[in-house]
Amino acid sequence: MDKFQFFAPSEVLFGKNVEAKVGAMCKKYGAHKVLVHFGGNSAKKSGLLDRVCASLAEAGLQYVLLGGVVPNPLLSKIKEGVELCRAQGVDFILAVGGGSVIDSAKGIGYGLANEGDVWDYYERKKAVTGCAPIGVVLTIAAAGSEMSNSSVVTKDEGMLKRGLTTDYCYAKFSLLNPELTYTLPAYQTASGCTDIMVHTLERYFTGKQTKQLTLVDNIAATLLRNVMRNAKIALKEPNNYDARAEIMWSGTLSHNGITGDRTLGDWSCHQLEHELSGMFGVAHGAGLAAVWGSWARYVYKENVARFAQLAVDVFGLPYNYRDEEATALEGIAAMESFFRHIGMPTNIHDLIGSELTEEQIKELAHKCSFMGTRTIGQFRVLTEEDMANIYRAAK
Ligand code: NZQ
Ligand code: ZN
Repeated sequence: MDKFQFFAPSEVLFGKNVEAKVGAMCKKYGAHKVLVHFGGNSAKKSGLLDRVCASLAEAGLQYVLLGGVVPNPLLSKIKEGVELCRAQGVDFILAVGGGSVIDSAKGIGYGLANEGDVWDYYERKKAVTGCAPIGVVLTIAAAGSEMSNSSVVTKDEGMLKRGLTTDYCYAKFSLLNPELTYTLPAYQTASGCTDIMVHTLERYFTGKQTKQLTLVDNIAATLLRNVMRNAKIALKEPNNYDARAEIMWSGTLSHNGITGDRTLGDWSCHQLEHELSGMFGVAHGAGLAAVWGSWARYVYKENVARFAQLAVDVFGLPYNYRDEEATALEGIAAMESFFRHIGMPTNIHDLIGSELTEEQIKELAHKCSFMGTRTIGQFRVLTEEDMANIYRAAK
């Protein structure tokens, strides 16, 4: 293991009914007036929003509501939130929802703490110097934003999706009650489980595979097997507390840095996917499932043994010492087979309902390369041409 930093400053309360403590937790972290930020209808329909507001009132906190965050959250909603918070004197943002609501809350937090157009920070034209405090009541196990230092936002014009990663935006606290995920549609459950797995896979395929990483490799393999086992249970029994709890905590750990060294990780599939969900509005996890196999087959020759290890450690496949490549490819096929088993697409056609045109492939690759100005990936560094080849293989 090389030198590394592990930093995971968000306080987590886990278990049944933890959301009842939300008022006290906001107060603990200095809130006076809270923006309660949420998505479409799920938090209202389940009664969660009412319970959150009651807890805030009980703690003697004032609050204002701002809903309407869409999956793959939009810059326009963040700007609306910044204006509302300034006008109302809000000093704490509470996200009640999933990755989209949390990331929108982080965007508002950046907008409040930094001058000018918040998009300039996502475009890396300027560097942020702070973020207003955020708290989270999580309703879907997926993005890991409840304990990550990232937020991903889509600019309405041009549907350009960009991530911003800084240590300023860590949630002060995250409340994780697995029961809140019982109402998830099966597709969102499966998409969330896929995202959780790919957060671990991105870190598994680093650029420095010569280093010994036995402990984190074993954490990663256990987490992957655990999500696979419990995804199947939760899809059959949506109200199975134990399965939902295993998935929820796996989701948080999968993106808080414990499954890998925070400086390492490939992240190509995430970059390729962000352009897909930016352009087509698809669920992020489903988009990852649609490109992962094509990425894996494109890059596995960089380190065949690593892919073979995944096949053995995660799927229990026999190591074919005479033909390591066969083991590697069987592992990739097994991963795709699992994705299909839980109802995820393993190509873009199944994701968006039609084949990508050559024009769309080029546009996606151009956007993903930040208009020809960057490469992506560590396991194998990918140029714009490579990106187009992977979209083509996955189309
Ligand atoms: O809007 P509502 O009505 O709440 O419905 C949501 C939404 O339609 C629904 N939902 C959430 N909780 C529910 C529920 N439906 C019923 N019962 C519940 N308990 O689920 C749908 C998807 O919600 P969303 O928040 O979009 O899901 P997810 O958590 O997968 O977040 C995806 C976003 O996170 C970004 C993705 O790119 C995408 O924009 N990511 C953020 C990361 C980060 N900040 O660290 C890392 C990830 O890799 C990812 O990129
Ligand atoms: Zn993700």
